[in-house]
Amino acid sequence: MTPEQLRNLVRSVPDFPVPGVLFRDITTLISHAEGLRAAVGHLVDRARASGAQAIAGMEARGFIFGAAVAIELGVGFIPVRKPGKLPVPTVGIDYQLEYGSDRLEVDPTAILPGQKVAIVDDLIATGGTALAAAELLRKVGGVVDQALFVIDLPDLGGAERLRSANVGVDALMSFPGH
Ligand code: PRP
Ligand code: MG
Repeated sequence: MTPEQLRNLVRSVPDFPVPGVLFRDITTLISHAEGLRAAVGHLVDRARASGAQAIAGMEARGFIFGAAVAIELGVGFIPVRKPGKLPVPTVGIDYQLEYGSDRLEVDPTAILPGQKVAIVDDLIATGGTALAAAELLRKVGGVVDQALFVIDLPDLGGAERLRSANVGVDALMSFPGH
């Protein structure tokens, strides 16, 4: 599958979730057997090249790609969860959204001190989610120097923000002008 074919599997939905926003939807990519396998395979190649020892994925869409990458790579998967989901004491981080704030939580015992953890998510936009995840994983002892995405919306500046925090960013495709 060529990069162009993979890109064409992403559905673009105008005016979702609010008027004026063009939503890049991975449903059509992940329901396509070859597309899903190709996307996961490319992410695995990049995670392997950097020597990732664990994969962390953010709820919810990061679980889809993150778990698949971890299995293929032969490492564990660390779920970075939305608040109140984990049944054990968690470490959390609050972060700002364009309007309001959100929170991510992790089970600190899921990470070994000094473990090299790569972040995987479907998409980076403002980078708020990934930056919060990187800070959180570092807070609990992880070494986070790589974040992998299927889609980058470069005009929203997320990749730049992550790089400023010393997190390398790699995406399989980019939608300038989002
Ligand atoms: C979406 C997407 C990324 C995040 C990117 O998650 O899956 O995780 O937004 O945006 P950002 O770079 O501006 O932070 P969202 O929480 O909206 O939905 P999900 O639960 O379906 O993953
Ligand atoms: Mg998400």
